[in-house]
Amino acid sequence: MPLVNPLGMLQAARKGGYCVGAFNLVDYLTTEAIVKAAEARRAPVMLQTSSATVKRFGVKTLATMARMAAGSSPVDVALHLDHGTDRDVIFEAIREGYTSVMFDGSRYPLEENIARTREIVEEARAHGVAVEGEIGVVAGVEDDIVIRQDEAIYTTPEEALEFVRQTGVDFLAAAIGTAHGFYKVEPRLDIDTLRALREQTGFPLVVHGGTGLGFDVVRELVAAGACKMNVSTQIKQTYIDSLYDYIQAHREEYNILKVLQHAFEQLVEMIGGYITVLGSEGKA
Ligand code: 13P
Repeated sequence: MPLVNPLGMLQAARKGGYCVGAFNLVDYLTTEAIVKAAEARRAPVMLQTSSATVKRFGVKTLATMARMAAGSSPVDVALHLDHGTDRDVIFEAIREGYTSVMFDGSRYPLEENIARTREIVEEARAHGVAVEGEIGVVAGVEDDIVIRQDEAIYTTPEEALEFVRQTGVDFLAAAIGTAHGFYKVEPRLDIDTLRALREQTGFPLVVHGGTGLGFDVVRELVAAGACKMNVSTQIKQTYIDSLYDYIQAHREEYNILKVLQHAFEQLVEMIGGYITVLGSEGKA
């Protein structure tokens, strides 16, 4: 199937009380693994690309890869630009077939974040592309964006409502204490705010920083209103560790396809585990 705008799948998730996995790809193997895991669980899924991956491959190549992987798939697959900070890259992604984009204006003062987000929403709307906005600041390391735990700013329901009203974004990343990368200290999660956001707003909520949360915590976040959960670092870890383990155990193996197949299978299993916990299994 062609890539789909994710708004429909996220609205269905909000209504149905489950969450769609948004997984960061880094190459074609991870792209295929994400789609394969979604197919195996009959789940809608979002492929997403970080700014470093975009810098390496360019949006045109990434959109082509995503279209190829989704093209032969019976499940709904969306392609999302994660943490877009550069207006030109976001506009290019919109033109090249991404079906949603995130504008991360969290480094700007609120008024400027709103103005810049609104400009992205206008361009995206004209192309049938959905937009994720961010209010508050998510801690951790996401490629070249580094935010210390004490610099994180939690989202309040009042701010979130006002932000969505003024910008027109379709779904919102809520900063509720999760962080990008591995957790060095136990995260201080504000699940009450997530619940309040779900009750007081009508739009789908996004939780960043899916790696390293216990599956019980993931279930709690989904029950409290997370409709899209981002998972990136765990993909990179599983990929590298599975290659490392296989090569260590088979030092004389030079059939690279065999080595990569091992990583592929590990990735499909790991991603499938998230899909099941998020509750989107069987929802395609
Ligand atoms: P993790 O790397 O912690 O899974 O976070 C991913 C993310 O939120 C990408 O935006």
